[in-house]
Amino acid sequence: MIEAFIFDLDGVITDTAKFHYLAWKELGLKIDIEIDEEFNESLKGISRMESLERILIKGNKQNEFTLKEKEDLANDKNKYYVELIKHISPKDILPGIENLLKEIKLNNIKIGLASASKNATMVLNNLGLNSYFDFIADAAKCKNSKPNPEIFIMAANGLDVDPLNSIGIEDAMAGIDAINSANMYSVGVGDKDSLNKANIVFENTQTIDFNQIVNSYKAC
Ligand code: G6P
Ligand code: MG
Repeated sequence: MIEAFIFDLDGVITDTAKFHYLAWKELGLKIDIEIDEEFNESLKGISRMESLERILIKGNKQNEFTLKEKEDLANDKNKYYVELIKHISPKDILPGIENLLKEIKLNNIKIGLASASKNATMVLNNLGLNSYFDFIADAAKCKNSKPNPEIFIMAANGLDVDPLNSIGIEDAMAGIDAINSANMYSVGVGDKDSLNKANIVFENTQTIDFNQIVNSYKAC
């Protein structure tokens, strides 16, 4: 029996992934490290500080900054990001997502959020989706970035559900690994080849089909 659907935010509920990319790119200009779309893929689902570490390693500058300077850089990136997401509104909900949330609720299944973003609650508020969520895992309390399952386990605990009876939805490889390691059923949104470790993959949010998920979960 499915007890919960646990969602990633960026790239699943709304396309904030592009704003994270633009904000990192802006920071990259400041520290002279080029960030392209391909490299950005490897940052999806990864926490702010760990993303910065990966960027510094890419630019071979991992030993150039003190911890305080790194924190300042991460704060700068966040300022750019917050500026970009200020004007997010319900029109920025990805296609099909609100109907999916409604269908889950109609079936009396709990809904949780497992995003690595410390801005998640603000984004959900701006989208007007807060009331659908029974529990939002607090990224600030999460010590290990995806692919570690910690944030998904936090969400399952907060919802008081068994991970084995939970469905996780993700657009990033690290996220699918996190869901699988949490012993949840994994739903990928995006490219079938790169998300090949997911139990089921939909090409985009519009095509996510509640009944198909339930049936394939039951069959496995
Ligand atoms: C999500 C995004 C990442 C982002 C992380 C932290 O997982 O996919 O790109 O780095 O959240 O977001 P934050 O808003 O806390 O910087
Ligand atoms: Mg994502």
